[in-house]
Amino acid sequence: MEPSALKVLLVASECAPYAKCGGLGDVVASLPKALRQQGVDARIVMPLYASIAKEKYQLQPEPPVRVLCGNGEVNGCGVWRGQADGDVPIGFVEHDRYFARTGIYDDNGYEFGDNAFRFGLLGMAAMQICRDRDWLPDVVHGHDWPTAVLMPQVHAWRKAGLPSGRTASVLTIHNQSYQGYYHPSAMGYLGLGAEFFTPDGIEAWGKINLLKGGINFADAITTVSPTYAREIMSEPGGQGLAMYLQRRSDDFEGILNGADYDIWNPETDRRIPANYRAESLIGKQTCKRELQAERGLQEDPAVPLFGIVTRLASQKGTGLMREALPWALNEMNMQLVALGSGNADDEEFFRWLARTYPGRVSAEIGYSEDLAHRIQAGADFFLMPSLFEPCGLAQMYALRYGTLPVVHATGGLEDTIEQYNPDEGRGTGFKFYSPTGQAFHDTIGWAVSTWYDRPSHVTQMREQAMRVRFDWETSAQRYLAIYRRVVARQRN
Ligand code: ADP
Ligand code: GLC
Repeated sequence: MEPSALKVLLVASECAPYAKCGGLGDVVASLPKALRQQGVDARIVMPLYASIAKEKYQLQPEPPVRVLCGNGEVNGCGVWRGQADGDVPIGFVEHDRYFARTGIYDDNGYEFGDNAFRFGLLGMAAMQICRDRDWLPDVVHGHDWPTAVLMPQVHAWRKAGLPSGRTASVLTIHNQSYQGYYHPSAMGYLGLGAEFFTPDGIEAWGKINLLKGGINFADAITTVSPTYAREIMSEPGGQGLAMYLQRRSDDFEGILNGADYDIWNPETDRRIPANYRAESLIGKQTCKRELQAERGLQEDPAVPLFGIVTRLASQKGTGLMREALPWALNEMNMQLVALGSGNADDEEFFRWLARTYPGRVSAEIGYSEDLAHRIQAGADFFLMPSLFEPCGLAQMYALRYGTLPVVHATGGLEDTIEQYNPDEGRGTGFKFYSPTGQAFHDTIGWAVSTWYDRPSHVTQMREQAMRVRFDWETSAQRYLAIYRRVVARQRN
């Protein structure tokens, strides 16, 4: 790395493969890798959760840091260094009281009450690590509410003339619906004076709203698709914060995520039973057969197999699934394989579905990277009826595996899927426009009838889908342009 390279620190609550709940973890791993390929000195800092095995990832101990919090409390934090994918230096903040827990944000669905303190400390520790090592970033890049708090903090350091305030700040919103509401008593610990506790600052409904503080104080804000950027600039998509985003519209844009094709590529994927390419799909047939066998489904190549891999949360359209799936299964000759975990009622629904349609439905409740790959490869269609979807990576992976997405046309799903055109047999998936069980059911029916009545269209669409690329290079260049802009502004 050139000594003059732009220094960018990503601070985040997730990074794959160390700790991941969803796509945020994928992005935090892929973006710095792509940035380094552009000559940026990109690094990551995240918490050392109990689930991260130091030996497995060969983490090396580094000198600890002393973090002086705003209320005068001093926290000693251990520091561990690792090498993330793509030679990206990654630092882990060790603080047993806050991070030595199994969950990232919650314990079996019960949110930790001290998240403002936990993630507030993460950002402060990350900057202290940089200061101690004489590597002050030109840009600190936070992700979602957990590290949005860094934006007002950087602003406060800037006003106080502290070295850490020379850093420019960028916030990426991966999900506007999680904002991080906390009791105002955390303000002191976070180092934020009363002047920040206003409606134009970090206050909302008498509480701290971390995401709002991030939006109001970041030097630039991004979100993960152009359509979602438009959706959250008005209500109800903005979840109460649309007007604040509108005020920042000159510094706000949507940049589509990329997919990591080193990991998600049917030509090279070692997690699937057979590899295949757009020109020859024989391997995909093997993947389907083996998936049906493994999951206890009738081994029939002629029946269309639908796949689901998701967090089970209302965002993902689990309400529509509950309405449409039994209905579709009663009417149509189709199979379903689902993998997911989250909301207990939704988990129970999928267990029920598998019991009710033996040999036609399989449901694995849990989290499995390997099975996710086997479903992407073995299924014919991929269901993603999200009520809203900031970007969505799962449908991008599905496209690469020739598994045609059936999606609600919202956010990144609208931006990444080309609607099926039955006149020409073109398109990469099936979209519906109103978030209802009826529309979802009908669109599953559209996919099923295309499968049986126009098989040549399915073949054509698969080939088209498998050639689509959402590469990180293009997205990283857009982030780089933003970094350069905020750094230039900060230095003037
Ligand atoms: P979100 O981040 O909202 O969950 P994305 O589509 O952006 O949605 O990313 C989801 C990521 O999480 C994908 O990599 C997907 O494969 C993975 N994933 C979700 N649920 C599971 C699960 N139960 N097992 C394995 N991987 C999962
Ligand atoms: C969030 C969003 C998802 C997006 C991911 C990565 O989890 O729900 O749509 O793909 O972040 O940006």
